Amino acid sequence: MNNVTVVKHPVVENCLMHLRDKNTELIKFRESLKRLGLFLAMEATADIPVRPCQVKTPLDIPADTAEVADDNTLIIPILRAGLGFVESFLEVIPRAKVAHIGMSRDHETLEAKVYLSSLPEDVKLYKKVYVTDPMLATGNSCVKTLEILVEAGIDPENIVVSCAFTVPEGIEQIHSKYPQIKIITATVDKGLNEVGYIVPGCGDAGDRLYLL
Ligand code: URA
Repeated sequence: MNNVTVVKHPVVENCLMHLRDKNTELIKFRESLKRLGLFLAMEATADIPVRPCQVKTPLDIPADTAEVADDNTLIIPILRAGLGFVESFLEVIPRAKVAHIGMSRDHETLEAKVYLSSLPEDVKLYKKVYVTDPMLATGNSCVKTLEILVEAGIDPENIVVSCAFTVPEGIEQIHSKYPQIKIITATVDKGLNEVGYIVPGCGDAGDRLYLL
């Protein structure tokens, strides 16, 4: 699959094990999603721009080095579950800004409806945009978010979508419209059930993160 990276690491697998387990309680679920998010954030930011600079070491010797240009990057969690990755991304790119997109899903048609968009007015000036969406299921919420971003002037080349769980249908939904967009995921699961849940997946990630 082009432009899809499945992050492989024993710790990632361990996080997935806890997330999938129906007996995992709230604190462990949050902790596992956050830890998994760190690995996704590392991969998602692997090509983040840097600015060359020079510092003096304690030996008073100049060293050519580079600083990460994270001040002009934007993290966009898709509410609710996307919030579970925000702290992980900020750990890796602490000067990033955060704008929220809220999507509700019609449980009958599975269509996504926007109820919140807090994009900054100068959104098209951001060099990299990191969308966090732990559950890429039908892809409807994610595609709607991407449409908002592209209409606001962001180049799809500069958008990265990070997920814990994906399915081929969701990936195809995104890439049929925006093939340039990079998708980083911890797993590509089998598919969707009749009510649009990822199988085997981890159930409702928003509920497990905040309510159960
Ligand atoms: N959203 C979830 O939280 N879980 C799924 O399986 C699909 C969408």
